[in-house]
Amino acid sequence: MDLSLTADPPSPPTAAREGVWLTCIECGAAFPPFDDVRYTCDDCGGLLEVGYANPPSLADAAGTGVWRYAGALPLDGGVTIQEGGTPLYRVPDLAEDVGVETLRIKHEGMNPTGSFKDRGMTVGVAVARELGVERLACASTGNTSAALAAYGSRAGMETLVLLPAGKVAAGKVAQASLHGARILEVDGNFDACLDLVQALADRGEAYLLNSLNPFRLEGQKTIGLEIVERFRADHGTVPDRIVLPVGNAGNTAALYKAVRELVWAGDLAVDDVPKLTGVQAEGAAPMVEAIEAGADAVRRWDEVETRATAIRIGNPVNAPKALPGIRETGGTAVAVSDTEITDAQRDLAESGIGVEPASAASLAGLRKLRADGVVGSDEEVVCLTTGHLLKDPDAAAAAGTDPEPVPVDLDGVLDHLLT
Ligand code: F0G
Repeated sequence: MDLSLTADPPSPPTAAREGVWLTCIECGAAFPPFDDVRYTCDDCGGLLEVGYANPPSLADAAGTGVWRYAGALPLDGGVTIQEGGTPLYRVPDLAEDVGVETLRIKHEGMNPTGSFKDRGMTVGVAVARELGVERLACASTGNTSAALAAYGSRAGMETLVLLPAGKVAAGKVAQASLHGARILEVDGNFDACLDLVQALADRGEAYLLNSLNPFRLEGQKTIGLEIVERFRADHGTVPDRIVLPVGNAGNTAALYKAVRELVWAGDLAVDDVPKLTGVQAEGAAPMVEAIEAGADAVRRWDEVETRATAIRIGNPVNAPKALPGIRETGGTAVAVSDTEITDAQRDLAESGIGVEPASAASLAGLRKLRADGVVGSDEEVVCLTTGHLLKDPDAAAAAGTDPEPVPVDLDGVLDHLLT
């Protein structure tokens, strides 16, 4: 399948149902969307994406949140907890400090469970209901498990999550737990968890809701649609660049699909498409390696480490969709150190924006690319912050100021403050 920005919109295959179908991005095979449970191509195992007979257009947007863009989604409504419609914060001081014309922060931590995963789950869990499955499952560095647990329980389904033992931030485990997921702690990293849960899903034990599932990415497209709409309303243009943290590369793939469809609908000129710019932690940077090497595929990293546990991933399964996205839009990918991530987390906090470490990678990456001259001083940039500060309270406390013990009397407190 032609994943270039100038490809023609697809014509509906006979497999289309009410103008919606699934296509393999590798061999072009088409499948009906909801007849069977299917995550990848039956013929070649390639990644699937959702096709629409009518290219979704912003002109059809109505209402609020993710479902404002129902015309760009495979169902008319979902299992909702009022996800989407997140703020696009202005940060003029940070823009000046980084040295770009405009900087806006799209804070996905403001979703119901505190991350962008809610956008994918409102759609993915609705599709699961359509398919008639009973149990949902995912592997997760934490946020997907929190969203799966919340949306799954709202839909009245069983939820099962596989987490890398000792490598998931406290807030995320707490969410999965309280929303009633069955939590399996695996003595391995996220990639090993994903291998395991895929095998379980293939045996029919559960419906897989990792970003390998093409329906989840449909919901996540709405980040891009919101950015384009809001930025246009405020600035009369679309941003030159969108910078985002990359783990499994689902969001990168989703944003690219969003802009491809806007081009098809005539809502966005090819020349105006924002440059998709991915940021990884130095200790988990297989996408950066592939972009720098000009490689067609990503090499799996077996050993990964970073304080930004959300993106502690060595085998980004959506790379076949995300690599063309970065290249076709003229973007790039960059790796940042944990120290740079923590510094960026503090910078955002200074502007009142509380994010978890992985989210701060976007700002850290922008700073680095600006310093290297890859990003120009005239650029208008949106940085995506993917998860809320409270997701990882330990990281926040370690990056912030320490509490100071004081005696329980005014003189003692004044003494402490004034000396
Ligand atoms: N930022 C946060 C806060 C995340 O939780 C994730 C992924 C990413 C960025 C990377 O997004 O995978 O689309 O490239 N978290 C997944 C999880 C893997 O299990 O919660 P991506």
